[in-house]
Amino acid sequence: MGRVAGPELAAAVSRAGGLGILAGLNLPPADLDRQIARVRELTDRPFGVNLWLHPDVRDPIPPAQLPAENVASANAALAPFRAAVGLPGTAVSPPERPADVDAAIELVLERRVAFLSVALGLPAAVLVERCHAQGVRVMAMVTNVDDARSADAAGIDVIVAQGIEAGGHRSNWRPEAPAGVGTFALVPEVVDAVRAPVVAAGGIADGRGLAAAQALGAAGVLMGTRFVATRESTAPAFWKQAILDAAAGSTTITKALTGLPARVLRNRLVEEYEKSGAPVLPGLHQAALEQDIWLAAARAGRSDWFPMYAGQSVGIIRDLPGAGEVVASMVREADEALQRITSRSR
Ligand SMILES: Cc1cc2nc3c(=O)[nH]c(=O)nc-3n(C[C@H](O)[C@H](O)[C@H](O)COP(=O)(O)O)c2cc1C
Repeated sequence: MGRVAGPELAAAVSRAGGLGILAGLNLPPADLDRQIARVRELTDRPFGVNLWLHPDVRDPIPPAQLPAENVASANAALAPFRAAVGLPGTAVSPPERPADVDAAIELVLERRVAFLSVALGLPAAVLVERCHAQGVRVMAMVTNVDDARSADAAGIDVIVAQGIEAGGHRSNWRPEAPAGVGTFALVPEVVDAVRAPVVAAGGIADGRGLAAAQALGAAGVLMGTRFVATRESTAPAFWKQAILDAAAGSTTITKALTGLPARVLRNRLVEEYEKSGAPVLPGLHQAALEQDIWLAAARAGRSDWFPMYAGQSVGIIRDLPGAGEVVASMVREADEALQRITSRSR
């Protein structure tokens, strides 16, 4: 979770008995190395590093290959957004994207981080074997049963089944793959299809969700949105507040932020770009083009021009606890929920 899951959040989750995961996307390897070291100062518990393996991230499209008229149309559509946050208009192309993923993977191996967590792609079986040789376990996030089977065949240790309720990007990398299945249908389908333990993701934010996921056969849950609204999250305060104020229907899936589908809170940034009809630059270049707007919005505390990734669980998130308290209360509430169910059915 870029801009959200730094060392403090990851360490707090791990210290409480969960598995904290550092966000590695867009972090230069030297920064990632510093963050790994910082987590280790804060805890000696296992943690993970998350990386995207999408072809557009591994092998970025050079900005010079983007059609000039698309860059011009995107900048024209963004001009009123820039004005709204006090920035001048611009006609620049997005900057070159670094191809840092392989270096980041090498770092995870070298530093023997407990888990390499991957999304939007699958590591090849040889990479999984290299990870295992270094004592690094691999988890991969999928949105459909075919990708779950491929992950299982590649020797992945933990498969995360991401339902459509989930906040953030859909973990899809094959355009033809089905991506719209909900957590309740996806988790048991994947559990039945693979040998690896399955972790449920999407729409889970309290112990009731953990108990339900366990009932579906999941070995655990992975949460994003719940942890955005915690004290250790580095998300701007207005993003956390927007989650506390939102209902399950406040989110939408859009390609307008990066060119790849992601669930966010609906706001002017998303709605007005979609309405503009301007093209979305591929290969995460759209995100690079909009960076200046997002940073200015964050500085000005403007939630309307900032990408607030969040899932449908926003409707049950009403407080701003420490991340460790979230882990502890999830376990307590799940136990209570399971006891309630068993006592009722006797
Ligand atoms: C703000 C935010 C950022 C995210 N960034 C990433 C990411 O960089 N890599 C990744 O694998 N998943 C990312 N996710 C998705 C989570 O892995 C997970 O699928 C999702 O949060 C689960 O659903 P939930 O949001 O309902 O808890 C992100 C989610 C959110 C809310």
